[in-house]
Amino acid sequence: MNIRTIMVLGAGQMGSGIAQVAAETGIQVILYDQHDQFVQRGLNTIQKNLSRDVEKGRKSEAEKQAVLARIKPSIDLADAKDIQLAIEAVVENRDVKCELFRQLDALAPQQAILATNTSSLPITEIAAVTTRPELVIGMHFMNPVPVMKLVEVIRGLATSDETTNIISRFAKHMNKVPVEVNDFPGFVSNRILMPMINEAIYCVYEGIAKPEAIDEVMKLGMNHPMGPLTLADFIGLDTCLSIMEVLHEGLGDTKYRPCPLLRKYVKAGWLGKKTGRGFYNY
Ligand code: CAA
Ligand code: NAD
Repeated sequence: MNIRTIMVLGAGQMGSGIAQVAAETGIQVILYDQHDQFVQRGLNTIQKNLSRDVEKGRKSEAEKQAVLARIKPSIDLADAKDIQLAIEAVVENRDVKCELFRQLDALAPQQAILATNTSSLPITEIAAVTTRPELVIGMHFMNPVPVMKLVEVIRGLATSDETTNIISRFAKHMNKVPVEVNDFPGFVSNRILMPMINEAIYCVYEGIAKPEAIDEVMKLGMNHPMGPLTLADFIGLDTCLSIMEVLHEGLGDTKYRPCPLLRKYVKAGWLGKKTGRGFYNY
């Protein structure tokens, strides 16, 4: 299958990044969100990133405009009627994603691949709400999408070899490195990363050290580019909590229980960088 037009669902930090990188590699992108202002916010982020590329001499102004011209804003799912691929990147919530996949299944061409950028939710379960589970797959980009090379490619129980091959090839077309893994809670990336972040939050909760000290230990001691609490704020504390809940429920081991402090921050609306407050103020 030749992928020429995709729909990216969700114009938040991940969706806007995926849309940008796809458009940079010549793909026509429909960027969909619930409301105009959310799509516009995503487009503003893309515009800012591209302007930085122009300032740094990595792109010409004409190239920037050509990338932007390939991204069409949308608040109508019916715009999926001519796509070859959908990449869903809405909020990490099982019901929301399943409902969206049900609707997409009815609107997108029968042979279109429906991919999800979920951080942890079972691909098999999302696929099961559609009439085309062999065409449903996890395509898990890392944040920030324009910078990070990895795409975790997650096969659901029914995902076909052909779908997997097409998506791996498409990830390479986007200048990413696909790594194939099976469908278990948190896959590989968040099965390993998120318990570390949760443990760092426990260190704050138990008064072992201040967030700055914990981050400094992991940056200077383990050569991590960001400390775990800065990274949690960067990912979004709502997303971190959802992932821990999926690990806890899906694997049934108490070692995955989300830290109460993480729950408290999310309840307070302290979601990290995107709301201006998390473990740090922005
Ligand atoms: N969008 C686009 N480009 C960005 C960016 C963004 N949001 N953030 C940084 N960059 C670019 C900058 O433009 C800069 O490039 P130039 O200087 O050439 O313009 C380059 O990245 C480096 O940025 P900075 O100098 O500002 O900062 P840095 O050296 O600290 O790097 C970072 C920033 C790349 C984000 C680095 O801190 C890092 O690698 N952090 C860890 C990121 C990480 O672990 N991501 C995975 C999160 S987990 C996940 O994604 C999965 C999940 O399901 C939750
Ligand atoms: P975000 O909060 O920045 O953006 C989510 C977007 O989804 C918002 O613009 C919101 O308006 C939109 N949305 C919510 N419900 C919708 C619906 N029914 N229809 C259309 N749009 C809807 O979140 P994000 O960080 O971009 O995360 C998006 C997805 O990517 C999640 O599944 C998350 O787990 C995954 N992910 C996140 C990261 C990360 O570091 N943040 C990394 C990899 C994967």
